[in-house]
Amino acid sequence: MPPLARPPAPHEPGDQHVVSEPIPFERTAVAEEAPLGPTGRPMPHLPELRPLQRHGNARVIAMCNQKGGVGKTTTTINLGAALAEYGRKVLLVDFDPQGSLSVGLGLNPHDMELSVYNLLMERDVTLDDVVVPSGVAGMDLLPSNIDLSAAEVQLVHEVAREQTLQRVLGPAIAQYDVILIDCQPSLGLLTVNALTAADGVIVPLECEYFALRGVALLKTTIDKVRERLNPDLTIDGVLGTMFDGRTLHGREVMERLVQAWGDQVFHTVIRRTVKFSDSTVAGEPITSYASSSTGADAYRQLAKEVAVRCLNSTDPA
Ligand SMILES: Nc1ncnc2c1ncn2[C@@H]1O[C@H](COP(=O)(O)OP(=O)(O)O)[C@@H](O)[C@H]1O
Ligand SMILES: [Mg+2]
Repeated sequence: MPPLARPPAPHEPGDQHVVSEPIPFERTAVAEEAPLGPTGRPMPHLPELRPLQRHGNARVIAMCNQKGGVGKTTTTINLGAALAEYGRKVLLVDFDPQGSLSVGLGLNPHDMELSVYNLLMERDVTLDDVVVPSGVAGMDLLPSNIDLSAAEVQLVHEVAREQTLQRVLGPAIAQYDVILIDCQPSLGLLTVNALTAADGVIVPLECEYFALRGVALLKTTIDKVRERLNPDLTIDGVLGTMFDGRTLHGREVMERLVQAWGDQVFHTVIRRTVKFSDSTVAGEPITSYASSSTGADAYRQLAKEVAVRCLNSTDPA
């Protein structure tokens, strides 16, 4: 961190009436510099998102990290809900057999008639048969439950097994502006399907000391998918989650993330707050459960950053 204030300017001894003057001057000078965000870099100006007149040509983004509990599902729900608030048409894909995304949006895993499993494995099931409303205006959901774990085994015997999700999501591209895929915490065939279907990847990383462990393996998997299956796959960003700005430790981890990933690290950082678990229990996004909370605002800011980086900011032609 750079020093925030220079030492006060020297003044003439005995010159009592100017003693207090350098302090307001110094404060003004510091305030005019661009404020440093939690990543230690100056925060960029992020323009408000204008509503779109027409929808379609969706960007498909996979939320990926083989470590569990890093905020993939929380980010999928809340980034999706924030983009929907800004008028984007959003489809969330629950691609984890644990079904946390579906549960986090209030669905009962035992009540699902059809899920992503049926869409992947049964040729007569269409996207429209499986899509359900998420409870958030402008945001739909392809739900999953434990059935999806069987797909991982059964897909091995399929033709073009890595392209199965890409094939079934095809009809959704023209209907939505963004499709977010919540991956399971592994680098198995389901995650390879998500990376093959995706245009970009967002990697959520918990701001704790061992966060970077295992990231090399994730990078290798992304590189292999790019070389063999999906040449245009890009990393849309690395997101620091569960940040505690009060500790030196949290800030050090953030610095290390920026050293390792450079500009790929989002300026937006998600702070640690119990409001996220509370909103999961309530079965809704934090943007509606605690609309004016700092957590909701952080995901709105992330939505703007994602839009600037990789979404069509203009209407599709
Ligand atoms: N910023 C945060 N602050 C506090 N708790 C969080 C935060 N983000 C997620 N959580 C909680 O941490 C747990 C794991 O998050 P989740 O999004 O399910 O991770 P993943 O999908 O990577 O396994 C959940 O109980 C969630 O409510
Ligand atoms: Mg999850």
